[in-house]
Amino acid sequence: MLSEQTRTIVKSTAPVLAEHGKTITTVFYSNMFEAHPELLNIFNQANQKQGRQQAALANTVYAAAVHIDNLEAILPAVVKIANKHISLGIKAEHYPIVGEYLLKAIKEVLGDAATDDIMNAWAEAYGVIADVFINMEDGMYEQVAAQENGWIFFKDFTIARKVKESENITSFYLKPADGKSVPSYDAGQYITVRLAIPGEEFLFNRQYSLSQASRPDEFRISVKRESDNDPNGIVSVYLHEELNEGDRIEVSAPAGEFVLDAKRGTPVAFVSGGVGITPMMSMFETVATQTPERPVSFLHAARNETLHAFDKDIQKHVASMDNAKYKALYSDEPQGYITREILEDMVDVSGDVYVCGPVPFMEKMISELHALGMSDEQIHYEFFGPAVALQTV
Ligand SMILES: Cc1cc2nc3c(=O)[nH]c(=O)nc-3n(C[C@H](O)[C@H](O)[C@H](O)COP(=O)(O)OP(=O)(O)OC[C@H]3O[C@@H](n4cnc5c(N)ncnc54)[C@H](O)[C@@H]3O)c2cc1C
Ligand code: HEM
Repeated sequence: MLSEQTRTIVKSTAPVLAEHGKTITTVFYSNMFEAHPELLNIFNQANQKQGRQQAALANTVYAAAVHIDNLEAILPAVVKIANKHISLGIKAEHYPIVGEYLLKAIKEVLGDAATDDIMNAWAEAYGVIADVFINMEDGMYEQVAAQENGWIFFKDFTIARKVKESENITSFYLKPADGKSVPSYDAGQYITVRLAIPGEEFLFNRQYSLSQASRPDEFRISVKRESDNDPNGIVSVYLHEELNEGDRIEVSAPAGEFVLDAKRGTPVAFVSGGVGITPMMSMFETVATQTPERPVSFLHAARNETLHAFDKDIQKHVASMDNAKYKALYSDEPQGYITREILEDMVDVSGDVYVCGPVPFMEKMISELHALGMSDEQIHYEFFGPAVALQTV
């Protein structure tokens, strides 16, 4: 339990932290990686280059400081982060390292303004916040390990099949190399793929949503090939170009809280842009196979027909369901965007909606869904990268 004085200091210095948050977290990562280069085997360097991970961490530290009296208030964010952490194999022993470099970065950036009292208060608060994460992650690891065919950290999988779904999206069917089954998972969850790429010093970790309903013998992920210009697209290009049937990759157990409540019969809508279609495929197939009478609609935006994956699969499911609607739009064509009118026509606003796609796409869709009267509790969304503060109305 933090003392009254500590909580007061933490809350009163939170705005300073918000102002300098991105600078502090940038200094933090740079110093931490210099002292602990082994952590580069865990962190996604593309997210660092874009500044997204620094911003996500800064926002969370700020939110935790503001709510230090009542950390329950940031529980949804903690659950989301803890899922990402367990998917990457983060351990309790990593927390003191992060704490040390975060505190040093606060001192380095704030200088004399960070008095001993302030630094002590922050050190104490970090301990409390870290314990919240550690306890939650311990519980999650225990649950995953106890699941039938479950495992913690990484396990070898074999690429059983590679299937092209569109000009730039290819599916990889993955089976455990030890011949066992896979654990069941909730539609919408993701795995982390860990790769050693020849010529690269560190391991690469990337999350991929599972793109089919849970089944016992295999996982499927569907990967968009990023551009191979500049340093971009390292993992997706490697998967597309270099890895083939029979090759092995390391995979973590399914994680994530962007999941379909598959037991409900209430209306549900899926709204995706580009490769954001992948978790929707798992959810849609789950509805099609488990509750085919459930009112469901699927709205997808692609650039054009050649980049549109899974069209035939979705149509096949629609034909087998009682209350399913499907519409795809191509932004290369005139009137090829999902508008408020289209959402109004397709989405039953009394139900739930799942949104996944590029950040500006999600901002637009969520703003329109708000305009149609949907509440935040009804709208679920997934970032294909570290969370950003969405600009919605
Ligand atoms: C929960 C979750 C689920 C996901 N599901 C899927 C999925 O189902 N399918 C899918 O295809 N992807 C998915 N992703 C995204 C995926 O994890 C990878 O981010 C994606 O494949 C790109 O990785 P990459 O290594 O190919 O590209 P990276 O090399 O990581 O590059 C990605 C982008 O980072 C930027 N970048 C890279 N290097 C630099 C630099 N030096 N300077 C500036 N910018 C730079 C570029 O914009 C580049 O396009 C998901 C992500 C998350 C978090
Ligand atoms: C209390 C301490 C911590 C906080 C508040 C925190 C916060 C965060 C946040 C906000 C994210 C982004 C999640 C998302 O939006 O997807 C994240 C991701 C991550 N965290 Fe933590 N974290 C903490 C401790 C740690 C520790 C101890 C490690 C291990 C060294 C770690 C490693 C990672 C990694 C590897 C990612 C994914 C990064 C990426 O993909 O770019 N974190 N964390």
